[in-house]
Amino acid sequence: MPRLHVNIDHVATLRQARRSDQPDPVLAAGISELAGANGITVHLREDRRHIQDRDVKLLRQTVKSLMNLEMALTDEMIAIALKLQPDQVCIVPESREELTTEGGLDVSHHYKRLEKAVPVFRKAGIEVSLFVDPLPEPLEDAARLGVDFVELHTGAYSNTRGRARDAELLRLETAANYAHELGLRVNAGHGLDYENVLPIAQLPYVEELNIGYAIICRSIYIGLDQAVREMQDRILAAAPD
Ligand code: PXP
Repeated sequence: MPRLHVNIDHVATLRQARRSDQPDPVLAAGISELAGANGITVHLREDRRHIQDRDVKLLRQTVKSLMNLEMALTDEMIAIALKLQPDQVCIVPESREELTTEGGLDVSHHYKRLEKAVPVFRKAGIEVSLFVDPLPEPLEDAARLGVDFVELHTGAYSNTRGRARDAELLRLETAANYAHELGLRVNAGHGLDYENVLPIAQLPYVEELNIGYAIICRSIYIGLDQAVREMQDRILAAAPD
C-alpha cells in the first residue's frame, strides 16, 4: 500500500492571492503530518507563484516525515536544493503559462543536464525522482541515468472516464511493471482525488502518492486534519485483506 505525500502548494496559492501571511503552508504541513501524512511535497516554481523561499526553509526545519521538493532543472533550483537538503527532489517540467505541471518531463531532451545533476544530488544524499508520462522511453532513460524513482503522471487517467480511463490505468500498470523491471522505484501523482485514487493505490510497486489539490479543496469544508485522514482511509482500502 503506497504512502501518502501531501502536496501543500495550494495552501500557498490561497495565501499569495492576497500576498498575505495566511493560510501558512508550514502550519498546513504540520497538521497534515499529525493527521498521518507520510511526507510533504512542495514545488518551488521559478516564478514563485505559490511556495516561497521562506516556506521551503521553514519546512526543512519543521517537517518530521519526509520532504519532497519538486523543481525544474535550472541552475538556480539545483543550487537551492543542494543548500536546502530535502530528502527527495522530483524533477518536473515547468512553463510559465501552465496552470499546473501539465506533462511529464522530456527526459531524452534533458538527458545531458540530468546526467550531470543526478550524481550531484545522489552524492549529497538526496533521492532523485523524475516525473514522467507512463511510456517506455522516459523509463528507459531514467534507468540509464540511475535515478532512484520515477513518478508516473496520473493526469491523463484523472482527466478521463469510462473506457478511456481503463486504458489509461492499463498504461500506468504496464509502466509500473516495466519501471520495476528496469530497477526503478515507482511513485505516482497528479489529479488524484477521493474517487479515483483506489485503482492507483492498487497498482503494483507504487510506493508514494503525491496528492494536493483534492485534499486542500476538501479541507475547506471539513478541515485539513479530516481531509488527510479520509485520503489515508481511501488508500488503506488498497491493502490486501
Ligand atoms: N506530482 C507532481 C509532480 C505535481 O507537479 C503535482 C502538482 O503540483 C502533483 C503530484 C499533485 O497534483 P494534484 O495537486 O493535482 O494532486
